[in-house]
Amino acid sequence: MSKTVLITGTSKGIGLALAKTFLSHDFEVIGTCRSGIIKELDHPHFKAWSLDLSNTDSIKNFDKYFQDNGTQLDMVINNAGIGPDLDCDLPEENSFKQTFDVNVTGTTFFTEQICKHVKTGGKIVNISSRMGSIDRCELADSVAYRMSKAALNMYTKILTNRLSGTHSVASVHPGWVRTTISKSNVNGRLSPEESAQRIYDFVVSDFRSGIFWNAETQEECNW
Ligand SMILES: NC(=O)c1ccc[n+]([C@@H]2O[C@H](COP(=O)([O-])OP(=O)(O)OC[C@H]3O[C@@H](n4cnc5c(N)ncnc54)[C@H](OP(=O)(O)O)[C@@H]3O)[C@@H](O)[C@H]2O)c1
Repeated sequence: MSKTVLITGTSKGIGLALAKTFLSHDFEVIGTCRSGIIKELDHPHFKAWSLDLSNTDSIKNFDKYFQDNGTQLDMVINNAGIGPDLDCDLPEENSFKQTFDVNVTGTTFFTEQICKHVKTGGKIVNISSRMGSIDRCELADSVAYRMSKAALNMYTKILTNRLSGTHSVASVHPGWVRTTISKSNVNGRLSPEESAQRIYDFVVSDFRSGIFWNAETQEECNW
């Protein structure tokens, strides 16, 4: 029987490439974006669902998916994320709040809600960033983005502890990828497809729960 993966933020960038990669490996894929319409993923094993992580009602509404389908998940990849202050020197209040609403609050409460639908032995992977590494922080830009990914990493650790023995949990840095998350990403070292393949290889591996993995260099990341 094919496995089911839920991936957030599959309308573009790394999430879109991840959905295509999992579909090419015969997974059932549930993908999300705010509109719930993803024309590039017209595939019999793909289902799109609307999810706005900055909106509590939208998160609650996602439970309907499981009520209607009785689906059990093998894997969840929390990929959706934003970086409106990437490359900015100083924090700005609105973009700071927006960043935390999506990358931290929304991702946390979405995960809390769907955890019960992940099978025993299942995996929860948070797409974080090396920019959220406290050990490696040597610059002063992108304050909200860096802080949000550091907070997400802490959530990875907390979930690892709570789900010890039943589920595997990890944070993954996808590499510097050519997406539209910020202007400078046009210079990224990896295409979304290259990043997605490396993330896929990690997610389907027998990884150690609680790890922070750098998919670009394929080695463990410092927290
Ligand atoms: N690109 C990089 O070099 C890089 C490096 C390190 C980490 N990352 C992380 O990798 C992940 C994917 O990044 P990306 O570069 O692929 O970004 P992207 O191309 O901008 O795609 C972001 C995805 O998130 C969705 N999204 C945005 N706001 C949302 C919201 N409020 N609620 C739900 N979904 C929302 C978008 O869908 P809609 O706008 O259609 O709703 C889109 O599908 C992010 O978590 C990012 O922080 C990226």
